[in-house]
Amino acid sequence: MRKNIVAGNWKMNLSYQEGLSLFSEVVNMVKDEIRGNQQIVICSPFIHLQSLVQLAGKGNKVSIGAQNCHQEEKGAFTGEISANQILSTGAKYVILGHSERRAYFAESNELLAKKVDAALSAGLQIIFCVGETREERESNQYKKVIKTQLEEGIFHLSSTNFSHVILAYEPVWAIGTGLTASPEQAQEVHAYIREILAEQFNQQVADDTSILYGGSCNPQNAATLFGQKDIDGGLIGGASLKSRDFVEIVKVLE
Ligand code: PGA
Repeated sequence: MRKNIVAGNWKMNLSYQEGLSLFSEVVNMVKDEIRGNQQIVICSPFIHLQSLVQLAGKGNKVSIGAQNCHQEEKGAFTGEISANQILSTGAKYVILGHSERRAYFAESNELLAKKVDAALSAGLQIIFCVGETREERESNQYKKVIKTQLEEGIFHLSSTNFSHVILAYEPVWAIGTGLTASPEQAQEVHAYIREILAEQFNQQVADDTSILYGGSCNPQNAATLFGQKDIDGGLIGGASLKSRDFVEIVKVLE
């Protein structure tokens, strides 16, 4: 059975100290809220990873992830971080394919496929993001764009390896803009993604894969979004920087 997940994406925010204090607040507030089929993940900047893992402690339901990794195992890549280095902090997740990485760091589907392999061979779980721009939605290209992102970025995996993948549908026009996909718009895409998962792998993989919605998700809209049949939680940017808002969103999880 697939998990219901809320993942926070802190992006390039918070000093080391601010990150630790926000995380402590979140852990204290959510610890009694998390049930068996639920997972909470905080994806922080690299500088916080190890300390957050320690603060979370063993057996805690809050897991830690990074927001990117390099595609090579190691070597002369000044300023980069490998999947193995992330794993060595105790973090278990990595976000790949976020639209900000695609747009500002020119990450192509081809490069992302290599990062996916690097993350999996290190043993990380992947939160893989897909989503269309405003122009692509307005010209009715969104399904084609999302299908290509999946096909070229992650569908080379076997169904066994795909069990380490969480998908996130994040319409680019909704990220950080205050515009949210309507529950119907989001559900349409989530159902479509599940349909192509069934074609690519099989119905079991489609049923077992968690598909999160991301893009201006907040305590006011989370309930109607997460209430949709194929929406299994959210990837939260701005609202993950306020403990109260993030925890309100966690409380919406089924
Ligand atoms: P947002 O970001 O919630 O601030 O729109 C979501 C994301 O980029 O993951």
